[in-house]
Amino acid sequence: MVRVLFVCLGNICRSPMAEAIFAHHAAAAGLGAELTQDSAGTSSWHVGEEPHPGTRKALKQRGIACSHLGRAVAPDDLTTQDYLVAMDAANKAELLRMGADAARVSMLMDYVPGMAGEDVPDPYYTGDFEHVYTLVDAGCRGLLAHIRAGRTT
Ligand code: 4NP
Repeated sequence: MVRVLFVCLGNICRSPMAEAIFAHHAAAAGLGAELTQDSAGTSSWHVGEEPHPGTRKALKQRGIACSHLGRAVAPDDLTTQDYLVAMDAANKAELLRMGADAARVSMLMDYVPGMAGEDVPDPYYTGDFEHVYTLVDAGCRGLLAHIRAGRTT
């Protein structure tokens, strides 16, 4: 089992979108039983809340299910999750500050050719959920390909 945790600031816009898209592609690839995906925020501002309406709309338009409720990154996540995938450099820095092993920490755009190290812009501020969907979808496809390439069984 490979465990993936997508991390953003509020856990209502970018990371729940990534969780839902990744689950969708993993299931389509027949890997649903071999992967787990979840998402969390570096803040606890939106614990227990549904994703932002912009995220829900972008997913619904593509027929992608989403049932996540907001939660904060917990100390356990740093050791139980194989991939801690940050949406931006601030989220990554916060994971490392919390004590995450750098080998487990990456950014979603690291998995898109030519975009390593780039941020997924925060649609909470930009309002552009469609642009974010395009980036997150590309990142999730790349991450899934990366995990599949590294499988030993
Ligand atoms: P997210 O976006 O990190 O992609 O979930 C945000 C959501 C909420 C806030 C900031 C960013 N906020 O300030 O409440």
